[in-house]
Amino acid sequence: MSHPSPLPVSASSAAPASPPLLDLIGHTPLLPLHFADAGCTLYAKAEFLNPSGSIKDRLARHILLDARAQGRLRPDSIILECTSGNTGIALAMVGAVLGYKVRILMSDTASVERRHLMRHFGAELQLFHTDRGYITGIEMAERMAAADPRIFLPCQFANPLNAEDHFLTTGQEIIQQLPGRIDAFVSGYGTGGTLNGTSRALRATHPAIKIVAMEPAEAAMLSGESPCCHSIEGVAGGYLPPLLQGVHVDWPEKVSSAEALAMTQRLSREFGLLVGTSSGANVVAALRTARKLGPEARIVTILCDRAERYYSTKLFAENPASSV
Ligand SMILES: Cc1ncc(COP(=O)(O)O)c(C=O)c1O
Repeated sequence: MSHPSPLPVSASSAAPASPPLLDLIGHTPLLPLHFADAGCTLYAKAEFLNPSGSIKDRLARHILLDARAQGRLRPDSIILECTSGNTGIALAMVGAVLGYKVRILMSDTASVERRHLMRHFGAELQLFHTDRGYITGIEMAERMAAADPRIFLPCQFANPLNAEDHFLTTGQEIIQQLPGRIDAFVSGYGTGGTLNGTSRALRATHPAIKIVAMEPAEAAMLSGESPCCHSIEGVAGGYLPPLLQGVHVDWPEKVSSAEALAMTQRLSREFGLLVGTSSGANVVAALRTARKLGPEARIVTILCDRAERYYSTKLFAENPASSV
């Protein structure tokens, strides 16, 4: 991770170049999870341990520190992003410690806890209603930026720095944490940044690795189907993002909302993991990949975020899987 050169230090205020909180981002453990019923062990990157609770802290730090170093963020700048939630929480946190105003455009279907967390970090929220997925919010952000020169758009869906950071950090961490063979990497996609950057890093070291894209069975766009409503927040937002184009995916693995919710509950009850629904979905897809590749296969997947942003969702219903 490259950090910008230090800020000039005045006698009265000695602000550090990069607030120490930002050093807590990344370097997450790779947890071996043994599934006795499937006879295999998966390796799960514990991204829920990032300080704001999700993998999105990585892109927020990388994009904002880069923008600050390039002079694209000024004291009166407003960071504006369209996000299903986790990126908004991460930008609000990193924006707060760097001293910038953050405004978030979010679909009104995202959980209410995400709104609370963003506001708690001091961000402004604007909710929109759409049946066109992320596209509506992306177009709104572009219109607002055209009308106000203070606005800085991180553009998580198209910004190559999003994927670059996963190439430089997530991918390299996995390579160091799991020496020897890695047979497959399994991940869902929202912006496609995780799949893009991490898979490029892993393939460079493990050329035979299989890259498996988890997608909701109800919105299996890589499988050529039309997007529809699903309960796996944060992934497949009705749109195939630019960062996913050109990513070498060996095959997509469809996971239903009911399967994802049931596995997420199992992860908390059997493994003590307080994680969100896309983590359960990734594990379902990784176990299917283990069935295809054999029990000895060394498969890495991602536990994307923490469960506290799902209290009001089906995940915390009495019987999550049957509530779909
Ligand atoms: C909970 C969750 N899981 C997975 C992802 C997918 O990550 P990426 O945007 O890197 O494709 C996201 C992204 O929004 C997310 O919020």
